[in-house]
Amino acid sequence: MKVLVVGGGGREHALCWKIARSPLVTKVWVAPGNAGCAEVAERVAIQPTQLDALASFVHAKDVDLTVVGPEVPLCLGLADRLQKLGRKVFGPVKDAARLEGSKAWAKALARQHNIPGPDFRVFQASRAALDYLERAGDYPLVVKADGLAAGKGVRVCQDKAEAREHILDCFERGAFGDAGGKVVIEDFVKGTETSVLVVTGGQTLLVLEPARDYKAVFDGDKGPNTGGMGAVSPSPIPPQTMKRIEEKILVPTVHALACEGAPFVGVLYAGLMLTPTGPRLLEYNVRFGDPECQVTLPRLASDVVPLLLGAVDGTLDRVEVRWDRRPAVCVVLASAGYPGEHPRGLEIRGLDRVRDDPDVVVFHAGTERRGEKVVTDGGRVLNVVALGDTVAKARAKAYEAVAKLEFEGMVYRTDIGAGL
Ligand code: GLY
Repeated sequence: MKVLVVGGGGREHALCWKIARSPLVTKVWVAPGNAGCAEVAERVAIQPTQLDALASFVHAKDVDLTVVGPEVPLCLGLADRLQKLGRKVFGPVKDAARLEGSKAWAKALARQHNIPGPDFRVFQASRAALDYLERAGDYPLVVKADGLAAGKGVRVCQDKAEAREHILDCFERGAFGDAGGKVVIEDFVKGTETSVLVVTGGQTLLVLEPARDYKAVFDGDKGPNTGGMGAVSPSPIPPQTMKRIEEKILVPTVHALACEGAPFVGVLYAGLMLTPTGPRLLEYNVRFGDPECQVTLPRLASDVVPLLLGAVDGTLDRVEVRWDRRPAVCVVLASAGYPGEHPRGLEIRGLDRVRDDPDVVVFHAGTERRGEKVVTDGGRVLNVVALGDTVAKARAKAYEAVAKLEFEGMVYRTDIGAGL
């Protein structure tokens, strides 16, 4: 079968890499991909937001399955477009993608279906939100831009002044464009943050091995949040807690969407806080996490394509999934200045030095090919992933590989997987 992967980051390189290994697959395209994807898939010069061009491509090439990596095309309705053409697509339709596209909508749905989460209020204008701050009791408070803001719209505010600034950023300063046209203010809940990802076909669901990501840019979880500076799989969640997450959060969410007439096909990613009184839902994403995907797929010992097709065809209950018991650790190599302004076009050296070990794989994120060279082309540049018998061994192997790679100004966290 012929598969198109949409997106161009580390997550999409991992998807192309795993899909290309499937004996069911004869051809993989990636739109637009990156220099690393080109080793396992043919690149197509179409951006994930160019829905017309993607739909024409799928039709012209008779693509059997499209796998959508990022949330933006899903929220724009790419899955709806392809389904209308009678094409199989792994990723939710626009109405279901509202789980990530509108935090206010997702929170309201969760409340309506008694899914446990922090108390929240929604505001349509700054005056009402600022008035609320006058009455709000305890800090921190979590202030969230409603729409998609590339991970920058959520702020945990330690005091009124900080909350006020974020509200003004959203409503008055247009820092997040249309995404800041509504604001959710949520109570802060204490606990251990974790994410759980499930593949679902709208009726049944299959929980993936949990992974932990490291969002802050610096060691010790210091500095601003990023898309993710590293990840470890599995993440230690006790089986009883997993059962509770499934029963109280995941199953009711899948059911809620089916009730809305928008059954969810794809990966549902629940961002959770584990509290002494049980798990609480913080947010949903409607796609694989990045870099969580990069530690999950190398641990998937079975073929990923039957899993993806099982969701699309509604046959997930018949899919056999096997995991490599060994943990995986991913270290993200980023450009100087990330998550702020950063340079591009810097030569990456050492990629040939990390090819020999079967337990190490380097997924590309922001990279491009310039003639014979591979150069940086984004904030997160490479994802170095290693498997080992223990987290400590996987971590040691990953950092050994990191030491062989270089580009000017390369930065990374040194504590990914430490102490686990
Ligand atoms: N790693 C966080 C995310 O993918 O949203």
